[in-house]
Amino acid sequence: MIVFKSFHDWKKFKTKHLNAKTIGLVPTMGNLHRGHLSLCAASKLQNDVTVVTIFVNPKQFNESADFTRYPRTLPQDIALLEQHEVDYCITPSEEEIYADNYTYQVSEKNLSLMLEGEFRPGHFTGVLTVVLKILLAVGAQRAYFGEKDYQQYLLIRGMVESLWLDCEIIVCPIVRESSGLPFSSRNSLLSADQRKLADSVATIFNNKDVSLDEIRQQLMALDITIDYLLEIFNRRIMAVRVGNVRLLDNYAHF
Ligand code: PAJ
Repeated sequence: MIVFKSFHDWKKFKTKHLNAKTIGLVPTMGNLHRGHLSLCAASKLQNDVTVVTIFVNPKQFNESADFTRYPRTLPQDIALLEQHEVDYCITPSEEEIYADNYTYQVSEKNLSLMLEGEFRPGHFTGVLTVVLKILLAVGAQRAYFGEKDYQQYLLIRGMVESLWLDCEIIVCPIVRESSGLPFSSRNSLLSADQRKLADSVATIFNNKDVSLDEIRQQLMALDITIDYLLEIFNRRIMAVRVGNVRLLDNYAHF
């Protein structure tokens, strides 16, 4: 695997060596786990080469403490990508991505204000702006995103349609731990007790046979805060806080 430290270097290489190849892109913030690797596997099946970007995007963190404590494990991430035969990894700098000091931004005015957007003001503007830059800089035919962040996926798909971007957006199912808890980089921030609580949250939420009210009652009996729990887009979707770690989950339900 070749690691590029800038989009500048990537673009030079791509023009010279990858002109006739189909490129699959997996944008990430690192601390890679099996969820990320499932996106790489899907890309490897459908494209000649697969590119993973790793960039902990400061603009999508609405709390600076969350940005500071976000797990950063670049050497392990690179080893994992090599092991899974990913072709290229790009680790751009903040200086390169935000050379304009974030004066140009992409904001969506409807869906981005609900759910996650309500609890994390500015979050989706940070996500859409960085994803647009990554899509344009990498020049991939296909880009892969997880259902785990379902609202994020809908907004990225909407942006690609709205701006006529020449990239197919592909969504992949949530990969879960044996307890049913979705793999997430933030899971490593949970203490042992919080981890048990998070497993219980996943078990309760993923019971598709009971009503949402029953799920709410059971969750309320735990020592957690429910940010939202509702049915929308033919899915059940939830965000809760265990300590200061937010857990997201969703599944199709109609
Ligand atoms: P990150 O949280 O690193 O996630 C990168 C991609 O992996 C996202 O598309 C996310 O939905 C997917 N993913 C995470 N956990 C998953 C799981 N358990 N199963 C399946 N897919 C999973 O999402 C971001 O980064 C950022 O917002 C980003 C799009 C990179 C923009 O900065």
